[in-house]
Amino acid sequence: MSQAIRYARYGGPEVLTLDDVPLPDPGPGQVRVAVRAAGVNGIDWKLRRGFVDRGQLSAGPAGVGVEFAGTVDALGAGVGTGTGTAVDLGAGAGGWRVGQAVFGRVLSGAVATHVPADVGNLLAMPAWLSFEQAAALPVAVDTAWRTLRELDVKEGHTLLIHAVAGGVGLVAAQLARARGVRVVGTASPARHDFLRELGVRPVEYGGDGGDGGDGGDGGDGMAGRVRAAAPEGVDAVLDASGRDVLAMSVELAGGPDRVVTIADGRAAEYGVRFSRGTGGPPLAEVFADVLPLLERGALRVPIERTFPLERTADAHRLSEEGHLLGKIVITVP
Ligand SMILES: NC(=O)c1ccc[n+]([C@@H]2O[C@H](COP(=O)([O-])OP(=O)(O)OC[C@H]3O[C@@H](n4cnc5c(N)ncnc54)[C@H](OP(=O)(O)O)[C@@H]3O)[C@@H](O)[C@H]2O)c1
Repeated sequence: MSQAIRYARYGGPEVLTLDDVPLPDPGPGQVRVAVRAAGVNGIDWKLRRGFVDRGQLSAGPAGVGVEFAGTVDALGAGVGTGTGTAVDLGAGAGGWRVGQAVFGRVLSGAVATHVPADVGNLLAMPAWLSFEQAAALPVAVDTAWRTLRELDVKEGHTLLIHAVAGGVGLVAAQLARARGVRVVGTASPARHDFLRELGVRPVEYGGDGGDGGDGGDGGDGMAGRVRAAAPEGVDAVLDASGRDVLAMSVELAGGPDRVVTIADGRAAEYGVRFSRGTGGPPLAEVFADVLPLLERGALRVPIERTFPLERTADAHRLSEEGHLLGKIVITVP
């Protein structure tokens, strides 16, 4: 038997239930993972509320969670010695094996005791990572890495990141800094000292675009504060906020092709690219680049809070409030 957090109707966190479910069988090209930790993401509650429609309730109750860390528990057909990205990431010549520590992504169902996962979206977990830390990485790292590539930011450029203190924002900021890019980022004042430690020039949000009033700056608003923080000008913008900042961002960057959003569904209205998690570079390519930075402490992904599996609804409440430093992680016994 297995347990999974699921919902049978759209709604708030209260629709989530911890259900006994049959132990899932791994299909061809999959392994079954005994989950030890799962990351929480905005997409989890957007799907649960029905704001994003992937037909998630069409075949009965839906699972939640798109990223996990755990141990391989069973191998599906065609998976075993010498297959998959484990070899590329230094797991040795053995390939996937039962008992191996792994982390990765699924379309849904990671918040459970067991999840079937495609080996193409699976990585061998280095011994220096904890399960909690590994579970916090796939979405934030993949999204940050992909969007920086889409924006083609280079040494000497100045990048503005909206919601820089969230999981994606923090990773994007640090990857950009490691490449010699100047980073300006919007966040609440409580985050500013931490952001400065990472080499980010923090700017308070609110004012023209974004939520809040005029930010107490006499009406010049957020764009004015960004210009003051980046007198050299802004070359590119990553919008990880989705709170009505695209018009301002296009103006600051000098054109819509210099702006990417991962959170504003009205991107097309502004001629801005909406970057999705599907069809991006393979996880193995992204992490081959990023794991060395994590290992030597040049990239940090803070975990704001962990919750046990049975308190997933509380984790979703905190995620929906939208004021996090880094990630929320669910731990699984
Ligand atoms: N398209 C994709 O591939 C993709 C992938 C991952 C995430 N996403 C989406 O991208 C967004 C960010 O996700 P995430 O996981 O990085 O972070 P998150 O946890 O959703 O965002 C939390 C951050 O938002 C900040 N914030 C709140 N109100 C703000 C405002 N008005 N202006 C600027 N920042 C504000 C908070 O800063 P303070 O605490 O300082 O208030 C906090 O650090 C979510 O909407 C998520 O669903 C999309």
